[in-house]
Amino acid sequence: MKKYDLRSDTLTLPSKEMRKAMYTADVGDDVYAEDPTINKLQDLAAKLTGKRAALFVSSGSMGNLIPLYINAGKGGEILTHKNSHIIHYELSSLSALAGAMPVAVEGKRGILIPEELQKHLRPDIYYMPQVKVIEIENSHNKEGGTCYKLEELKAVNDFARKNNLKVHMDGARLFNAAEATGIPVKKICSHADTVTFCLSKGLGAPVGSMLCGTEKFIAEARRIRKMLGGGMRQAGVLAAAGIYALEHNITRLKTDHENAQLLAHVLAEVPWAEIELSTVETNILYFSTGKRKAENVVSALAKKGILAGAAGPHTIRFVTHMGISSEDTKEICNLLKQISITK
Ligand SMILES: Cc1ncc(COP(=O)(O)O)c(C=O)c1O
Repeated sequence: MKKYDLRSDTLTLPSKEMRKAMYTADVGDDVYAEDPTINKLQDLAAKLTGKRAALFVSSGSMGNLIPLYINAGKGGEILTHKNSHIIHYELSSLSALAGAMPVAVEGKRGILIPEELQKHLRPDIYYMPQVKVIEIENSHNKEGGTCYKLEELKAVNDFARKNNLKVHMDGARLFNAAEATGIPVKKICSHADTVTFCLSKGLGAPVGSMLCGTEKFIAEARRIRKMLGGGMRQAGVLAAAGIYALEHNITRLKTDHENAQLLAHVLAEVPWAEIELSTVETNILYFSTGKRKAENVVSALAKKGILAGAAGPHTIRFVTHMGISSEDTKEICNLLKQISITK
């Protein structure tokens, strides 16, 4: 039986062409800044995001930790959505390693707005912690792959400028957000001081993320990366996969979004699922299983070869990616219609 793995876009595998780019890459010692392929990737990432410089880091988690360490560390507060990745899935690294305090902020669809941010600012009294950074996630994973509109990005950025705060964007799926909203990547990034995006998710590289910002910031980020044990040597073999991903795999994200729409429309029709179609914006979709237990529905799906994760007692997440073609999606839709489950 064919397996359709919808658990995450982190499951994408490097293609034959990507592997060829990896094994033919020129390499050097990156701690000496002498790996030509890493340097090329960093230049490319800076150019794409419109920032002055970029740093290749091992993961999205490290790409979030370093800027928050630099801009909020040792007692500073970070305003972030209550369902952000940094709160739920990064092992409290902000408190454990950076010494910063994440503050959970309310926001519909994972979007932060000035009215909610304002509630968390404190008077400048010596015994009160002070907010240093606003962290925005775009697209927002746990809220369903949702994206900031341009005016929403501007509102957060204006609020940050007014209050002398930095903005960090967790753009693990930045290119999905750009594709879905039609806002150019550079324009999205112009509303954040620092941006992290992942090569290893929908873009299909096996490892790595890019941290982008000013030259001064990236020079400091390089120091903190080394301190965290993230200084890599001949990692050009990994960077080559990243370059390949950026040159070949951005435009195809549209297909993942179309496939997510197809799945969502079938889920809206089957009796065992409930979904609000307007919530599906990119390649991530969540649906309710109503009174049925999510784990029972996950088992029923698995019997048809569809792998998915329970995201709550009555919630399931599907993520589309390059390992799921449009043909596969049609077949998954047929299989979904065949499932019958009562509890
Ligand atoms: C929104 C978001 N940010 C950050 C990360 C962390 O990326 P990594 O798993 O590479 O540390 C993820 C991973 O899924 C994510 O979804």
